[in-house]
Amino acid sequence: MTIQWYPGHMAKAKRQMIEKIKQIDVVIELVDSRIPMASRNPLVAEIASGKPQLLILNKVDMADPAATKLWQNHFIEQGAHVHLVNAQTGLGTAKIPEVVHSLTAERRERLESRGFHSRADRALILGIPNVGKSTLINRLAGKRIAKIGDRPGVTTAQQWIKVGKTMELLDTPGILWPKFDDPAVGLKLAATGAIKDELLDFQDVAVFLLKTMLVRYPEQLRDRYGLEKLPEMPTEPVSEAIVQLFDAIGRRRGCVISGGNIDYDRTAELIIRDYRHQKLGALTLELP
Ligand code: G4P
Repeated sequence: MTIQWYPGHMAKAKRQMIEKIKQIDVVIELVDSRIPMASRNPLVAEIASGKPQLLILNKVDMADPAATKLWQNHFIEQGAHVHLVNAQTGLGTAKIPEVVHSLTAERRERLESRGFHSRADRALILGIPNVGKSTLINRLAGKRIAKIGDRPGVTTAQQWIKVGKTMELLDTPGILWPKFDDPAVGLKLAATGAIKDELLDFQDVAVFLLKTMLVRYPEQLRDRYGLEKLPEMPTEPVSEAIVQLFDAIGRRRGCVISGGNIDYDRTAELIIRDYRHQKLGALTLELP
């Protein structure tokens, strides 16, 4: 469920998250590999308040592997600890406790030097809606934990889930709001389904997808819709080239209204659905 965030929701969610993080050793921020920047919330560093952070790029199966490599290097250059997973199949998830453990070495040494036994590493997963937080928690728990609605400010009794020998994970994720102040970010969030469909115009989102594909993934575009020739890359917001593309796709897919005209709304929906269901291939929508 995607909800709409209001300033009151955000303030409350932030306060609750800061409170939760007091019991945490490592903050795991989960993002969508197709939009590794747009699916981040810039407040994480502030919320983490100096605790070690792990940035996990999820849904690697849905993203372009070459672009994921670029993003991984980019974040590492920025000093982040990065890990890649596919929460749905479990690829990369078994290593998470080990990675988390490596981030708590300093804390453990400090405790042990004072004669204390260090306990398990306590971690929390946070991120904006739809990045796969529940899927990852269920995967790490090895069972299905009831999905908590994406409702800001809803507190439920929380429990620690034991993951491997060294890690304990909070069973409820921290849900952050997506940042839509930048229209380009909004389009990326909408294309992946991270924000409510009603918040954006379908045609705008489809135009954004088509432009991205014309520039970076023309083969996939041609293959999916059986197009012989692609128009030249447009420069204007909605150029003639994009209209031609809409016409060709709409006609091929039978999105036609009376009089033989193309139903642009249906065509746009079809393009977005194809992207979300990976019918267009594994495509990353932004590069570092
Ligand atoms: P959230 O808690 O962060 O809001 O995300 P959630 O786990 O609900 O995941 C959102 C959608 O992303 C789900 O699909 C989930 O199956 C899918 N997903 C999560 N991780 C991965 C991944 O690594 N790869 C792929 N391909 N998909 C992933 P859904 O269609 O909304 O639900 P459902 O089909 O699982 O019922």
